[in-house]
Amino acid sequence: MIELRNVSKSFDGRQILKNVNLTIPTGERIAIIGASGCGKSTMLRLIMGLHKPDSGEVLVFGENIHQVSKARLLEIRLKIGILFQSAALFDSMNVAENVAFPLIENFHMPAHKVATVVAKKLELVEMTGFDKNDPADLSGGQRKRIGLARALSGDPEIMLYDEPTTGLDPILSTNIEDLIVRLSRQLKVTSIVVTHQISTILRTADKIYMVNQGTLLPPESPDTIMTADSIYGEFVRGGLS
Ligand SMILES: Nc1ncnc2c1ncn2[C@@H]1O[C@H](COP(=O)(O)OP(=O)(O)O)[C@@H](O)[C@H]1O
Ligand SMILES: [Mg+2]
Repeated sequence: MIELRNVSKSFDGRQILKNVNLTIPTGERIAIIGASGCGKSTMLRLIMGLHKPDSGEVLVFGENIHQVSKARLLEIRLKIGILFQSAALFDSMNVAENVAFPLIENFHMPAHKVATVVAKKLELVEMTGFDKNDPADLSGGQRKRIGLARALSGDPEIMLYDEPTTGLDPILSTNIEDLIVRLSRQLKVTSIVVTHQISTILRTADKIYMVNQGTLLPPESPDTIMTADSIYGEFVRGGLS
């Protein structure tokens, strides 16, 4: 479970988030939408413990992540997988080495176990057989899949996706969206998808939240958002034109 209680955050005297309250039960998938620069990625960084709120509390697995010890914060972070827009693969390493990196670096997994886990994660994202490929030789969608396999390497209970489909063509987007849903169902992970892509909003989320002028609006449903007579409806319909 993830909980934000009355969270406010400013940068350089400019308030980005004002008294944000949000509870995400275990296993739920939510989308966060809103104009560029409204604070969506900031919310993810607050949940990762990379930013400290000016006021309010961020609870992950019931613990206030800004009050726990550094060691505990690291343990909690290991249970959070994150996929950035760029996928952020290391081009000097092949696919298997990329997926193995957190296992060795963060989890200190013995070498004989690493190969098994890497194979499992590649299977999960349907990239079996690509172990020896260089990331540079992969398509955008394939790079995303490998980024996802790497994010999943430590069996996270929470997955954060920051613009996972931005810049992908519709077929690859659909692929990634299906994968997000399948992983959450298969592995029961709690997921937050930050996106402004309509297909991703509609296809991955149980609930959609919008950040608007620093506040988090009450959620909208993917079933009704397209016709909603609200700022949600305006946002998604505007996005289509
Ligand atoms: N570390 C930082 N220092 C100063 N300003 C920041 C920092 N991180 C984000 N901001 C500002 O906060 C606002 C929200 O950023 P962000 O959360 O990245 O927006 P988005 O909704 O597009 O993901 C932006 O105006 C951005 O410039
Ligand atoms: Mg962002």
